[in-house]
Amino acid sequence: MLKYILYILLAIAVLALIAGGIHLYRVSARNKAEMAQFAGPKIGYHNTLGKTLVIYYSLSGHTKDIADRISLLTDAEVYEIKTKEPLKQGLFFSLNARKQLKSGEYPAIEGNLPDASAYDTIFVGAPIWWYTAATPVLEFLKTYNFKGKKVVPFSTQGSNFGTYFDDFAAKAQNAEILKGASFNNLPKKYDDAVDNKITDWLNKL
Ligand SMILES: Cc1cc2nc3c(=O)[nH]c(=O)nc-3n(C[C@H](O)[C@H](O)[C@H](O)COP(=O)(O)O)c2cc1C
Repeated sequence: MLKYILYILLAIAVLALIAGGIHLYRVSARNKAEMAQFAGPKIGYHNTLGKTLVIYYSLSGHTKDIADRISLLTDAEVYEIKTKEPLKQGLFFSLNARKQLKSGEYPAIEGNLPDASAYDTIFVGAPIWWYTAATPVLEFLKTYNFKGKKVVPFSTQGSNFGTYFDDFAAKAQNAEILKGASFNNLPKKYDDAVDNKITDWLNKL
């Protein structure tokens, strides 16, 4: 009997590995096709977005990377959303994040947020957690007043941003929302193409 249970568990593990492999292959092919559109010479930035602020949260650096690149192009000020207590990363991190998303009880964030009225355009960057914004960004959106400013959401994710842009539009108070952009985590070889993707997006805003 135990032998059969072990066989079944082994079969499940093998199937999960195959499904994971197929998923990774598909994501990688999609990323390659998307980035091919932005390969080639560096695109010049020519928009004027006025005084610009980039607000972002980042746990492991991907969203910070995109925020910094936007700031470099647009000469924007940057504000990093920080949780009051460091988030405990570990085995249950992902499940805890899901629990927070379900309950609406998000981690408290540090105060002294920048005043929106000092800016013309505000970018807001979020890592995707469970197909929506990371909970510290949702906490930020609970109280932040964009005061009628142009607001541009962006995200970073493994492969699927889910309902982030709709959720963002529903929660961003008094924002005039412009077209956002999402960025899958990519290998370094795509760095120049990512820069072109950002510039192309910003030029079209
Ligand atoms: C709790 C958790 C949930 C995640 N959920 C998703 C998801 O639904 N879709 C996805 O494509 N990536 C998901 N990811 C991957 C992150 O969105 C991705 O690694 C992101 O770039 C991390 O940004 P950061 O480095 O700025 O923290 C998840 C990561 C974590 C930690």
